[in-house]
Amino acid sequence: MSDALAKTAQQPGIAAVQRCIVPTCAAKYGIREQIYVCPRCSGPLEIAIPLELLKSVPDLRERWHARVASHDPRDRSGVWRFSELLPFDKDAPVVTLFEGNTPLYDAPRSAKYAGLTALRLKHQGCNPTASFKDTGMTTAVTQAKLLGAQTVVCASTGNTAASLAAYAARAELQCAILLPQGQISPAKLAQSMDYGAIVCEIAGNFDDCMRLISELADVPSIYIANSVNPFRIEGQKTVAFELLEQCAWRVPDHVVVPGGNMGNSSALGKGFDEMLRLGLIDRLPKISIIQAEGSAPLAHLFAGLQPSEIAAQAALPEEIVPVPHPRTLATAIKIGAPVSWKKALRAVLRTHGNIITVSEQEIADAKAIIGRDGIGCEPASATTVAGIRKLTASGRIHAAESVVAVLTGHVLKDPDYVSNYHRGTLSFESVTERGATKSVPIVGAFRNAPEKVAATKQAILKSLQSRR
Ligand code: F0G
Repeated sequence: MSDALAKTAQQPGIAAVQRCIVPTCAAKYGIREQIYVCPRCSGPLEIAIPLELLKSVPDLRERWHARVASHDPRDRSGVWRFSELLPFDKDAPVVTLFEGNTPLYDAPRSAKYAGLTALRLKHQGCNPTASFKDTGMTTAVTQAKLLGAQTVVCASTGNTAASLAAYAARAELQCAILLPQGQISPAKLAQSMDYGAIVCEIAGNFDDCMRLISELADVPSIYIANSVNPFRIEGQKTVAFELLEQCAWRVPDHVVVPGGNMGNSSALGKGFDEMLRLGLIDRLPKISIIQAEGSAPLAHLFAGLQPSEIAAQAALPEEIVPVPHPRTLATAIKIGAPVSWKKALRAVLRTHGNIITVSEQEIADAKAIIGRDGIGCEPASATTVAGIRKLTASGRIHAAESVVAVLTGHVLKDPDYVSNYHRGTLSFESVTERGATKSVPIVGAFRNAPEKVAATKQAILKSLQSRR
């Protein structure tokens, strides 16, 4: 191999392109073109990494693993240690907070609750800003630097905003975030303020914020960091690599994720697919997406597909019917018009997974059960365990199969929800058939309210005794 070729083989990122995912278009664009959808057909874009250049690289798995012990800032990031599969060259101005490298926990109580012999939880809430968004933001903000952007922007239900604000601060870029006013957990909003972002509270919901963001797409100095941006997905796909590493490269039967704007499920689908095409695994896990009942446009679309269309992985539907007024207490996934639904649906169909909904009560109880395993997550993340329980009950997951749920955010992201659940004051504004709203209490099956105890040893011991 000539030196030049050897260099390319180690840096396939240089040869990556942006490609339209619509099969009848499949137009390709340069890696440094500032575009978010296909300029020809408006289809979604993805990054095509020339995997063939990597087939000659020996010991990729060992190489990635060895970097965990390195002190090089790139190697210490759980995203950049997979640099061979990222669309950047070795000199890219990497913006990192040492994201990734998150734990994979055994969760016996949650397993039992969900009807499984065992269940593992991949906790993406253990990232620097406490959500999975960081793995994608490190690559998106690095790309913003490369493009010479002045300002990075996003629409958000809270976590994308907190993450972008932090990475923009590291990169010394101006950051503006568009949030649906009054619909964001105060803890997430506080993060964005602390990281110095311009916080624009919009009178509307997340989908309105997203529409405004797309109007900013033609301003050259502004770079959009929502998951419509394929560079976000590149960082987020590394979670699949890291998870496989933690499973000793034994592919789990099922990987289950919450669904909101659908970047996460798209990214996992791409990550596993690349591992399969590189021959590092020999099959794909079934990817299933769980949505909250009141914010479930993709689950509705999936339920309407014919079994033959699912089996044949037929051409993707052209349109999704948005939910005009999405509702859920899991505000992170309160989204009615997900931008990445086509990629996500493709991942589920390819891997023979499912897309289902869970109720507010189911989410709340699953969240508390995850807590009893000593693992705290935010409500959106708990859709996974609630969904697995349903999939097990209906025979779509078998008790002995290996299942991984991806927890997307930390328990401290939404402390009001947690406190209200345990105190018995959590309620949900539900819509009646006539269109009126009514408040439905969430009755916590695993409620654990604080009790008033007298300031004596005896009273404390009595309290312990009564709860043994
Ligand atoms: N879980 C959490 C905690 C989230 O914050 C999100 C999305 C999701 C799940 C859904 O992931 O959008 O990739 O399907 N939050 C976005 C935000 C929308 O603005 O923070 P997705």
